[in-house]
Amino acid sequence: MIAPVLVIEPMAARHIDVIRAIDARCYSSPWGVATWRTELAEKTRHHVVARRGDEILGHAGILVILDEVHVTTVAIHPDHQSGGLATQLVLHLLDHARSIGGASATLEVRASARRTQRLYARFGFQPAGARKSYYSAPVDDAIVMWLHDLQTPGVGQRLDLIRHEIGATAERDLL
Ligand SMILES: CC(C)(COP(=O)(O)OP(=O)(O)OC[C@H]1O[C@@H](n2cnc3c(N)ncnc32)[C@H](O)[C@@H]1OP(=O)(O)O)[C@@H](O)C(=O)NCCC(=O)NCCS
Repeated sequence: MIAPVLVIEPMAARHIDVIRAIDARCYSSPWGVATWRTELAEKTRHHVVARRGDEILGHAGILVILDEVHVTTVAIHPDHQSGGLATQLVLHLLDHARSIGGASATLEVRASARRTQRLYARFGFQPAGARKSYYSAPVDDAIVMWLHDLQTPGVGQRLDLIRHEIGATAERDLL
């Protein structure tokens, strides 16, 4: 049987429970229902889910402050990690950030999460500083990463290269 195509689509209130179940497996301090409702209502946020058939596999989101795009969440269900899903979601977020005129993107990542840092480095994010003991349970520093010049051809070419490498198409983003 052919596996259902991966769909990246806007997160909606009906997704909150399943997203919270994924976050409970991925984060030590997952957002509660009230936070999610606020996030989904805010025009400055853009949250998407990765879905295959009826199954929600992960999610990712941004917060837009003027022309800065902050990647606030990227989480993939542990059963579906290492399959390129986070790469697809980050690609989607950066395409979206460019489409709304974003100039730069930033995020925080645990200092101990080297693999996650490599995921972002693939897109051109570079470490620009650290926030001491930013995370709890367990305590960890945050590495602050930035990707500047989002609107330049160089960033566009890098995204296209990753799109090509992972076989993603813009049509998969049904937005
Ligand atoms: C971090 C997380 C989102 C990654 O999700 P994922 O779907 O497993 O990630 P992907 O498979 O798309 O990508 C990660 C890979 O990109 C890799 N990568 C980097 N450059 C690459 C390249 N040029 N070519 C191929 N892969 C590359 C990474 O090293 C990693 O490879 P690995 O799977 O072989 O270790 C997931 O582990 C998770 O949900 N963790 C818990 C929540 C969390 O920490 N979120 C991040 C908050 S900052």
